Amino acid sequence: MDNFTYKNPTEILFGKGMIPELKGRIPASLKVLFLYGGGSIKKNGVYDQVRDALKGRKVIEFSGVEPNPSYETCLKAVEIVRKEKVGFILAVGGGSVIDAAKFIAAAVLFKGKDPWVILEEGGSNVKMALPIGTILTLPATGSESNGNAVISRGSTHEKLSFYSSKVYPVFSVLDPKTTYSLPAKYVRNGIVDAFVHVMEQYMTYPAKVPLQDRLAESLLQTLIEIAPAAMKRPVQYEARATFMWSATLALNYLISCGAPQDWSAHMIGHELTAFYGLDHAETLAIVLPGVWRHQFKAKQKKLEQYAGRVWGLRTAEEAIVKTEEFFHSLKMPTRLGHYKISAEEAAAKIGARFRERKVFLGEHGTIGAVAIAEILRSRA
Ligand code: NZQ
Ligand code: ZN
Repeated sequence: MDNFTYKNPTEILFGKGMIPELKGRIPASLKVLFLYGGGSIKKNGVYDQVRDALKGRKVIEFSGVEPNPSYETCLKAVEIVRKEKVGFILAVGGGSVIDAAKFIAAAVLFKGKDPWVILEEGGSNVKMALPIGTILTLPATGSESNGNAVISRGSTHEKLSFYSSKVYPVFSVLDPKTTYSLPAKYVRNGIVDAFVHVMEQYMTYPAKVPLQDRLAESLLQTLIEIAPAAMKRPVQYEARATFMWSATLALNYLISCGAPQDWSAHMIGHELTAFYGLDHAETLAIVLPGVWRHQFKAKQKKLEQYAGRVWGLRTAEEAIVKTEEFFHSLKMPTRLGHYKISAEEAAAKIGARFRERKVFLGEHGTIGAVAIAEILRSRA
C-alpha cells in the first residue's frame, strides 16, 4: 500500500426531512447565493423547503446552471457574488450545480486575470475559496463530498476538471426523497457513473490493498443488487437511500487510499461530452469496456478477481461481457454507433487532443494518443 493522506471535511446530513438541518450551519452574518439548475427543484418541492430553511437570511438566487455546467454561466455568477458581497454558496441540485458552485467559490477569490487557468492547472493554483454547502438531488458524481469540479467551455469544446481541498462542501444534505422526481434516464446515469467511479479506483493491478479492494467490491455488489429496485416505480425509499449513499462513498476517495488508479474512461469520456454532447455516464459506458479490452494483459489479474468476487464468474473476458450486460440491463448503450457518432472521427479528434496536451493515462501512465484512438475505434 502506498503512503497517503486522507481528509474529508464534509459533514453529511442524511435522510428524510433533513433539509431544515442546514439552518444552523450557515453563519448568520453571511449573504447566501442560492444556486440551482433548470428548475427541477421548483417542481418537486425542494425549492420551497430550501426557501423555508433560509427564512430571515439575506439570499440571492442564481438559476440556470446547465448539465455540464458552462464556464460562461459560472462567470456571470462570479460577477454577482462579487457585486453583492456573497459569503456562502448553497448549491441545490445534481453534480453540475455543485461543480459550478465549487468553481464559482474558487474563481471569486482567484487572483489571476482569467479563472479558466484554475482548470488548466487542475486546481493547484487555488489558494482560497468561499465556503459552500449542498443539497443533493441526483446521486451520481460524489461531488457532494469531494473536492472535484468539471466545467465546460462551449466556444472551444473543452471540458476540464480541477481538484482543490479548499472546495469541499462544508455540509451536504442527502435526502433520498429529493430523488423521487428523477426521470429514469438520470437514475440510470447515476448508477453507471457511481459504478465507474469505483472501477477507476479498483481496476488496475493487485496492489496489496485488500481492504480497499473489499470496499470497492462491496460498493459494486451493492449497486448491482439495488439497481433494479432503484429504477422501479413507484419509488422505493430504501433502494434510493442505498443508491444515494453508495454514490457518495464511490467518490469520496476513501476506497482509493494508497491504491493505484486509472481514470482513463473519465478522461476520454469528458472529451466525448465536449465534442458530441453525450451525458457523462453515457460516455463512460462506451469507453470503460474499451479500456479493459485494450489493457487486457495489464488488468487481467484484477479483472479475474472482479469476475470471481463480484459476479461469481471465472475469467476476465466473462467479467467484461457481464459488465456490458449490466449496463444494457439499465438501458444504457455501450457503443458510439448508438448515437450515430463515427468512431473513426472521434478517434481522430480525441486522439489529437491528447497528443497536443501530451497527456498519458492509465495506472502505469502508458495510455497515450495512439492507444486512446485505438480504444475509441474499438467502440464503433
Ligand atoms: O437543472 P435541473 O432542472 O435541476 O435538472 C437536472 C438536470 O437536467 C436534473 N435533475 C437533477 N436532480 C433532479 C433532476 N430532475 C428531476 N428531479 C431531480 N431530483 O438532472 C439533469 C442532470 O443533472 P446534472 O447535475 O447535470 O447530472 P449529474 O449529477 O450526473 O452531474 C453531471 C456533471 O458532473 C460532472 C460531469 O462531468 C457532469 O458535468 N462530474 C463531476 C464529478 C465530481 N465533481 O466529482 C465527477 C464525475 O465523474 C463527473 O465528471
Ligand atoms: Zn463520473
